[in-house]
Amino acid sequence: MSFELIIVGGGRMGSALAEGLLAANWCQPEELAILEPSSTQRDVLAKQFAHSRVLASLELEHVDPSSGVLLCVKPDHADAALRNIATVGASRVLSVVAGLSTARIESSFVTPVAVIRAMPNTPVLVRKGVSAIAGGAHVTSEDLTWAESILAAVGSVIRVSERNIDVVTGLSGSGPAYFYLVIEALIDAGVHQGLSREVSRQLVVGTFEGSAALLSETGETPEELRAQVTSPGGTTAAGLRMLEGRAVRAAFLEAVSAAVERSRQLGR
Ligand SMILES: NC(=O)c1ccc[n+]([C@@H]2O[C@H](COP(=O)([O-])OP(=O)(O)OC[C@H]3O[C@@H](n4cnc5c(N)ncnc54)[C@H](OP(=O)(O)O)[C@@H]3O)[C@@H](O)[C@H]2O)c1
Repeated sequence: MSFELIIVGGGRMGSALAEGLLAANWCQPEELAILEPSSTQRDVLAKQFAHSRVLASLELEHVDPSSGVLLCVKPDHADAALRNIATVGASRVLSVVAGLSTARIESSFVTPVAVIRAMPNTPVLVRKGVSAIAGGAHVTSEDLTWAESILAAVGSVIRVSERNIDVVTGLSGSGPAYFYLVIEALIDAGVHQGLSREVSRQLVVGTFEGSAALLSETGETPEELRAQVTSPGGTTAAGLRMLEGRAVRAAFLEAVSAAVERSRQLGR
């Protein structure tokens, strides 16, 4: 029996995508298969996706000319997984593997294959991710639309050229960690001023969620929204002056620059 989509690697990313795709009715559960080498993880997946197939190995009968593959393994396992996929063939491959170029994926196949590379981020686990996609040498606009429809099940999708994928990695890929660092620091600041950690956490996390919602729902720019809370000579102005004095803006610029450079190094 062949499948519309085979997810190769049923770990965190693979299972989050499977959940999102089924919730969005992207395909019927029976049209989805997950290939996973770990028998313990296969048991977990078989319970979680009771109406889909969880495979221990990929066979010719699982793939037909319209089957797509979603590659969700760690970078160290990508070559082995690709060798396996190439032996059975696939019409399209969408990879979320960090640092793996479309050219390298294409070189695993003897015939031209449509390869799309994506850089998602961890909020895809709660279907609020943002992913960037870039197409390889043999993709058509239908292939990109296909990839977009898969990642749209777990958040928003933006098209970029492949040379910008390292920038995406350092910005939105690593981005959640930057925001968590800021959140941790603000929670500590509240505790330092005498609040309990729990009260401080609720205030900071609530402020973060509310600010993000205000930004996306009003369509106003961050500058406009910041100006709205910054009365002349007021409390926010005093706090912001201190942050600008400590070069926080420059620190973020340098942080993204370092992350992008590291992504380029790892991809070489
Ligand atoms: N998590 C994120 O937020 C995030 C964001 C952007 C990009 N990514 C990319 O997503 C990919 C997956 O990350 P993850 O967090 O989901 O990793 P993960 O939880 O470790 O899942 C990977 C799964 O693939 C399985 N696997 C290993 N070799 C395989 C093979 N040859 N065929 C099929 N399955 C195989 C692993 O099984 P074993 O445990 O038995 O090895 C594991 O269950 C990575 O390349 C990462 O760069 C992740």
